[in-house]
Amino acid sequence: MIRHLERVIPAAPGKPERGSAEHPMRKVTEAVASGAATAWTTEQAAEVESFFDDLADEWHTRSDPHRDEPLRDAFDRGGIPSHGVMLEVGSGTGLLTPSLFARGAAVIALDLSFEMLKFAPAELAPRLQADAARLPFPDRSITSAVLINAFLFPDETDRVLTDDGALVWVNTSGDKTPIYLSADDVDAALPGAWTGLAAEAGWGTWAVLRRA
Ligand SMILES: C[S@@+](CC[C@H](N)C(=O)[O-])C[C@H]1O[C@@H](n2cnc3c(N)ncnc32)[C@H](O)[C@@H]1O
Repeated sequence: MIRHLERVIPAAPGKPERGSAEHPMRKVTEAVASGAATAWTTEQAAEVESFFDDLADEWHTRSDPHRDEPLRDAFDRGGIPSHGVMLEVGSGTGLLTPSLFARGAAVIALDLSFEMLKFAPAELAPRLQADAARLPFPDRSITSAVLINAFLFPDETDRVLTDDGALVWVNTSGDKTPIYLSADDVDAALPGAWTGLAAEAGWGTWAVLRRA
């Protein structure tokens, strides 16, 4: 069950709108979140890896002072733990890794694409090339899993989060982000009962969920 909070950060002009319901990455997002066995094949993983490898050189052009507003609001109002291990899943080139590092937890930056990770700030967070469908962490070992414009593998995320762990879901352009799910979709995708807070903020949307 998600409680939707009032917006407190207005949207500045100039919101990037790259995504839609028809975007190929949206289709992958929805398929992966459904947990269907056929959604994440070796071929699909290789295709996605190559897609982002090719974007790595220009990913910095997406940097913008407004990009972190949903994440900032999530930290201010979502009750994200500031202790323990914070796993940034699909961290890309680390555009928002400094915003995570600044909040005090020990951040690990994990991504499928080596080319994206090459640009990430290693001095702030160790970088790990891995597939979020098979996280190389023990059960119940991660305090916060932060997914910013990243695919949700529900069972695997559930497996690694501590009993009181938090899943932080951010779409920096809301439903105009290619990789997007609503807060209620995230809630529905997760195994078992979860509870959470969500809001629109700046250009985007966020949700913070915990097991009920
Ligand atoms: C849309 S980008 C977002 C990057 C970063 N979070 C940001 O907002 O700038 C999605 C990232 O997820 C990574 N990714 C895709 N599938 C993944 C998987 N199965 N495991 C880990 N990372 C994955 C991609 O390589 C890419 O860097």
